[in-house]
Amino acid sequence: MSSQLRIENMLDKIIYLNKSFNFKPNVEAPKAMLKAYPIYSESPLKLISFDKGNHVFVKDETERMNIGSFKATGGIYAVAQLISRKWYSMYGKALRPGDFHTPSVKKFASNITFVCASAGNHGLAVAAGANIFGAKAIIYLSNSVPNSFALRLENYGAEVVYSGGTYEQSCQTAIEYSKCSDDVLLADSAWIGYVDPPMLIMEGYTIIAEELREKFEYNNNWPTHVFVQAGVGGLAGSLTHMIRMNWKKQPKIIVIEPEAAPCLLESAKSSTPVAVTGPLSNMGRLDCKEPSLIALNILAKSDVEYLTVSDGEAMSAAQKLAENEVHTTPSGAAGFAGLIKYNPPINAQPLVIITEGVLL
Ligand SMILES: Cc1ncc(COP(=O)(O)O)c(C=O)c1O
Repeated sequence: MSSQLRIENMLDKIIYLNKSFNFKPNVEAPKAMLKAYPIYSESPLKLISFDKGNHVFVKDETERMNIGSFKATGGIYAVAQLISRKWYSMYGKALRPGDFHTPSVKKFASNITFVCASAGNHGLAVAAGANIFGAKAIIYLSNSVPNSFALRLENYGAEVVYSGGTYEQSCQTAIEYSKCSDDVLLADSAWIGYVDPPMLIMEGYTIIAEELREKFEYNNNWPTHVFVQAGVGGLAGSLTHMIRMNWKKQPKIIVIEPEAAPCLLESAKSSTPVAVTGPLSNMGRLDCKEPSLIALNILAKSDVEYLTVSDGEAMSAAQKLAENEVHTTPSGAAGFAGLIKYNPPINAQPLVIITEGVLL
């Protein structure tokens, strides 16, 4: 490595360890906010047998809040918080969780439009959030996204714009569009100069770790290993932060990525944010080639391991889960694929997160 490259890497490292990327969630806020609405219900924690009588805890996000993925906790919460912040800057008064259904707040929200690109669940969560709180949403899709998904978005009242051949191109269009409008860009990844909205999304995800903690604490039965799949790393970062901060018994944490998109693993290896290249993966929602800098910041300071899984491993993990009545996709099953590949000791009590259902 040339000395110039080393200096650039060190500077990059300083950037993502910069305190603007520090994750300090208000854990009570998503609980108060989401629980105030009938759409919220806790996702089930199941115990299934997976191999020679071994059991695994399965946090089943496949039907979360009728959206069908864990993403609902982040997108819906972030929409509410961003409406609330705008209200505060206009009226100098904070909104309480129950205030969002009042006519004055709904009228105020109807003038706010949220914009994002989506390869699936994030767009649904933002569209649903806008729909619940009376705001508007514009969701950019790449031309490869099926029309059935556009229809689901439109059912939430979102405007759908097809743009570009890849997810990255649709992201770029959403960013460009938001720059020349007053609309609010609500992306789920963080980069230099864009931190606050993805931070709120990750704050929303903390409710998942809290639901888990409450169950494990109640039964005093804690997992020994947590397998969490990652795209840009928002879920893995949020969960890792919460586990290391307030779980009484500390598990090993293993971050699972597709072989085609190991951006967190490669970033950890070189202590610098790395954009990877690779083929398309069947784990579409995890097929992110660039990490979130908030996630890197958390993972760099936490004790975690990384593992990649192949498309075939993720597919067969999804099939195994279906035999246990958990119906998911390769993206949703990737943590479970990681568990099978990692092969923890016989007395281990692993936890996996099944992050989405089959309906996209
Ligand atoms: C089903 C599913 N699983 C996992 C992930 C990964 O989440 P993150 O991009 O926060 O790492 C996503 C992201 O969209 C997803 O939709």
